Amino acid sequence: MSLKVSLADAPKTMTVPLLDLKAQYATIKPEVDAAIQSVLDSARFIGGPEIVALESEVSAYSKAAHGVGCASGTDALLLALRALGVGEGDEVITTAYSFFASASTIALNGATPVFVDIEPETYNLDPAKLARAFTAKTRAVVPVHLFGQCADMPAIAAASAERGVPVLEDAAQAIGSEWLGKRAGEMGIAACFSFFPSKNLGGIGDGGMVVSNDAALADKIRLLREHGARPKYHHHILGVNSRLDALQAAVLRVKLRHLEAWHAGRQRNAALYRELLAGTNVGLPLARPEARHIYNQFVIRTPRRDALKQHLGEAGIGNEVYYPRPLHLQECFAELGYKEGDFPVSEAAARETVALPIYPELTGEQIAYVSSKIHDFLGPRAG
Ligand SMILES: Cc1ncc(COP(=O)(O)O)c(C=O)c1O
Repeated sequence: MSLKVSLADAPKTMTVPLLDLKAQYATIKPEVDAAIQSVLDSARFIGGPEIVALESEVSAYSKAAHGVGCASGTDALLLALRALGVGEGDEVITTAYSFFASASTIALNGATPVFVDIEPETYNLDPAKLARAFTAKTRAVVPVHLFGQCADMPAIAAASAERGVPVLEDAAQAIGSEWLGKRAGEMGIAACFSFFPSKNLGGIGDGGMVVSNDAALADKIRLLREHGARPKYHHHILGVNSRLDALQAAVLRVKLRHLEAWHAGRQRNAALYRELLAGTNVGLPLARPEARHIYNQFVIRTPRRDALKQHLGEAGIGNEVYYPRPLHLQECFAELGYKEGDFPVSEAAARETVALPIYPELTGEQIAYVSSKIHDFLGPRAG
């Protein structure tokens, strides 16, 4: 369904939050409340049928055979990398432009993150720059499906397979996204999802999941998330406590039933932004024809980003910069020896991009309002 709205429909003033989880809750309140009540009644808070069912539903949705719920997307990455044997002395290749956890989980496992610059229009790892990052120490490659659009997995997988290196998908922002009909979750050795509340499938707290078609790998992650014990109190390997709780699982199961409709809402909103912003001087995110973009974020671009950000804020429009500092320039990675200028595409993205509200419950009027404020500020396209 397309929204029939033009800039003329924009009100003079209104408030548009970056994300409105209360609006989402209002549409599913009876289902969510019943799911929560049923967990409370069952008193099965750790493990149990809700977890087993969610693992099977999310893995089926992602076209993977196995799902292992854990406490967060960060832990999903941490445990998947550990299960792949990543540790001291190893290198793991990832993008210079992502949320911190894409790289911190490599370092927290004792390995060295090796960064690669991004494509300027999708913000995803640039496969053309990947080959030179491999060394004899490369133990894994972690592409990130940023903002809800898959990285070029066939190219990344081919370069990695040539060297016998597994690819772990950081799909934290991209559940349900696809590349040439293949879903995030079925393209790498495993994929990691986050259920942080702002994700397309978000819980009522933290949560995450690893999905994989590799039974032995999934089993090892399952062991790692529960202290490496099987049975209880018999510890084969050093694991952690990183369980997803039943309350999260029950709510996520409700929300999973609505996920396709929410993706469609975000796609419809993105299409309307594209239409209404076409005449102005702003860089729009490229949706690659190979991709099914699920628009966890809608990120626009202008060299006047900081001033535009302020203008939107003053107009009551929520917005956020994802991310103001690329990973290679984070203080905690200083000892890796990277410097400004090493990854110019990532550095420019950090200076020039800002995310707009894109959540499914946005109205056409709200999108027209946001678009009109961008027109006011940037003016018509030159030439
Ligand atoms: C690309 C990426 N990787 C990893 C994570 C970590 O997920 P979580 O916040 O659930 O730990 C996030 C979430 O913000 C993310 O966006």
